Amino acid sequence: MEQIRRIKISDLLSSDEYGKQVNVKGWVRTKRGNKHVNFVALNDGSCIHNLQIVVDVPGFDEALLKRITTGAAISIVGEINESQGSGQKVEILAKEIEILGDCDPDKYPLQPKKHSLEFLREIAHLRYRTNTFGAIARVRHAMIFAVHEFYTKKGFVNIHTPIITSSDAEGAGEMFKVTTLDVGNPPRNEEGAIDYSEDFFGKATNLTVSGQLEGELAALAMGEIYTFGPTFRAENSNTSRHLAEFWMIEPEMAFYDLDDNMDLAEEFLKYLINYALTNCMDDLEFLSKRLQEEEKNKKADEHSMELIEKLRFVKENDFIRLTYTEAIDILKNSKPNKKGKFKYPIDGFGSDLQSEHERFLVEKHFKKPVILTDYPKDIKAFYMKLNEDGNTVRAMDVLFPQIGEIIGGSQREESYEKLVARMKEMEIPEEDMWWYLDTRRFGSVPHSGFGLGFERMMLFVTGMGNIRDVIPFPRAPKTAEF
Ligand code: 4AD
Ligand code: MG
Repeated sequence: MEQIRRIKISDLLSSDEYGKQVNVKGWVRTKRGNKHVNFVALNDGSCIHNLQIVVDVPGFDEALLKRITTGAAISIVGEINESQGSGQKVEILAKEIEILGDCDPDKYPLQPKKHSLEFLREIAHLRYRTNTFGAIARVRHAMIFAVHEFYTKKGFVNIHTPIITSSDAEGAGEMFKVTTLDVGNPPRNEEGAIDYSEDFFGKATNLTVSGQLEGELAALAMGEIYTFGPTFRAENSNTSRHLAEFWMIEPEMAFYDLDDNMDLAEEFLKYLINYALTNCMDDLEFLSKRLQEEEKNKKADEHSMELIEKLRFVKENDFIRLTYTEAIDILKNSKPNKKGKFKYPIDGFGSDLQSEHERFLVEKHFKKPVILTDYPKDIKAFYMKLNEDGNTVRAMDVLFPQIGEIIGGSQREESYEKLVARMKEMEIPEEDMWWYLDTRRFGSVPHSGFGLGFERMMLFVTGMGNIRDVIPFPRAPKTAEF
């Protein structure tokens, strides 16, 4: 094949250099036509749109054309032509065709038709070949870039915190162990317990649930930092909002109080949404259409706002801010609570909020994102700053429509004495946390931070309903095939 520069389909579709010879490579989505002319829809992952290749059948070997099947990888040299009817400005008139990789249409699991998301989860290794997962992958990349852009513009320093740790940052104990001991026959100490001093790190270790504690160490020297890394939770939650392995962005800021923290969280979320609206419109339009198809099967009262309209709405409106206690009042007196419609009824202060309650506040009551603050200390982590009432902590959760909690954060307890007292109450061993406590002994200052669950943000931006569809290779209970 003569050496002609390869061009990506995304670039080609915005070109008007009619008559120019180009080379395109990609995977065949469909082929249709007759004995005179074939139309091949080619996708190379660079954008949601396929390129139409026009093949003059008599000009090519019949056996070669037979190998152009759905899923096959091909290379085409041809001329850019003004398109007559493909819905696009340009198409390619094929001059040379090379088959790079055959694809047996009888064995290829992806057919040129709509597959269910459940089926696609079973062939996650091929999901990228579909329009939906191509769109999600591109939006995911754009969101990763936007996260770094947002914090870079603000002068935050990105910190890599460890993935293997010996501490339990959230104190919830739902961790995956990391060990090189022989699990069938581990060494034991005199009491018969597993002797981790013989393990690789000389102590018990696990995969991190959060980079926050190490992030705090950095913030108390660098001022403003953020982490963006994988986190792991062994909670047995088989829901459409939970993963066992997910990515979290955790900014941590010295000298910020809870209001500053909320302002940053709101600005950050709106920045990401705006970035998607500005840079991912083709993919969002595709995802929106997909969602509208799904909505057709729903009852009228279950219909949700059109995706792009919803993103604009959240970007343009102030989030509602109220305390946990105020929210409990609203929930307690709400219709679903009085009629026994909540799976977990709200009886008053102290109830932990479930996603049904969060979504009621956001979707039915306020019809806007909500930031709840000042939760009871008993349902929150040890490091949160105690309020003067002695009962509540300076926590904040950002609640989103369709998602529920998307961000969890707080102002941190900066007083050494109060933090140690709280750790004693919650039976968190001080001796293991000496390095964390040192920050409160040496130049402690008020500081705050939060964590955004990246896949929950992806759910919101793409409108997808299941978190397993916004990460390429989901990890969940009994799910780690690919
Ligand atoms: O509320 P969480 O547990 O907070 C923390 O981990 C703090 N250390 C954050 C901080 O203050 N620096 O988790 C933060 C966010 C949640 O709001 C949610 O979006 C997401 O992480 N998240 C999950 N996402 C997917 N699957 C799970 N199992 C998740 N658990 C939490
Ligand atoms: Mg939380």
